[in-house]
Amino acid sequence: MNSIHDTVKEAYGRIAKGASSCCGPVSSCCGGGGEADALAQAVGYSADQLAAIPEGANLGLSCGNPTALAELKPGEVVLDLGSGAGLDVFIAAAKVGATGHVHGVDMTKEMVMKARQNAAAFRRRTELDNVTFHHAQIEAIPLPDASVDVVISNCVLNLSPDQPAVWREIARVLKPGGRVSISDIVLRQPLPESVKDMVEAYVGCIAGAQLLSDIEGWVKAAGLADWRVEAKDAAFAGMMDSGDPLYQSILAALPAGVKPGDYATSAILHAVKPR
Ligand SMILES: C[S@@+](CC[C@H](N)C(=O)[O-])C[C@H]1O[C@@H](n2cnc3c(N)ncnc32)[C@H](O)[C@@H]1O
Repeated sequence: MNSIHDTVKEAYGRIAKGASSCCGPVSSCCGGGGEADALAQAVGYSADQLAAIPEGANLGLSCGNPTALAELKPGEVVLDLGSGAGLDVFIAAAKVGATGHVHGVDMTKEMVMKARQNAAAFRRRTELDNVTFHHAQIEAIPLPDASVDVVISNCVLNLSPDQPAVWREIARVLKPGGRVSISDIVLRQPLPESVKDMVEAYVGCIAGAQLLSDIEGWVKAAGLADWRVEAKDAAFAGMMDSGDPLYQSILAALPAGVKPGDYATSAILHAVKPR
């Protein structure tokens, strides 16, 4: 388990520092900027949403837009798993307002530092003081039982070496009636051998993706209900076609004649904790 966490931390630490040349989506513009915004728009963000968040909060690491579908309300407590530089935390914070709160959890120290810097800019711009970034693993969330209304996440669960534990933690921290709206890469069928052992494919959120039938089993075993999946094929195609060198190396490793969409897609995963 440790070696996967260490590989992921090292790769995303480089991305947070803007020093990566080979890891993570949009690796050529890891400090954010135009290419990161183009990728975010390809996976479902509007130009207005991106203009309203602090500069540098979007690193082009997303595979969907979970806050678009979470129907967040003023006063709610939201948790973002693997919050990176804070993209979805800041969008959610504007929606829940001064009476709500948004917690981001990320295990990569450099990402948490970047997110906390962005939080200072967010406070100055909005006068909202309603975000907290925690340096922790999503397999052991540092929040009390039944303390969260909505769990969101964006392209992170696939990076966990213990996804059943993450779903148990989600169920633990949710209040009864609380809901889940998670964007992630999921598998339609097992990946070809040529791709599934590539470090690039793991860090790029493909090789750790799981079959939807397995995820459904973990969600139900954790005690969550109302399981629903919205496939986002266009978002997945937008990532794979972004021209990022990392995705180009994954495409090159696919057997001749097959398309990435035959194996995987982006999806929003919905569930609810029963009352
Ligand atoms: C692909 S990036 C997505 C970042 C952010 N959600 C976004 O859309 O911009 C994955 C993030 O998840 C974090 N991460 C990966 N595995 C994690 C784990 N097991 N626990 C906590 N954070 C994790 C990484 O450090 C990284 O910041």
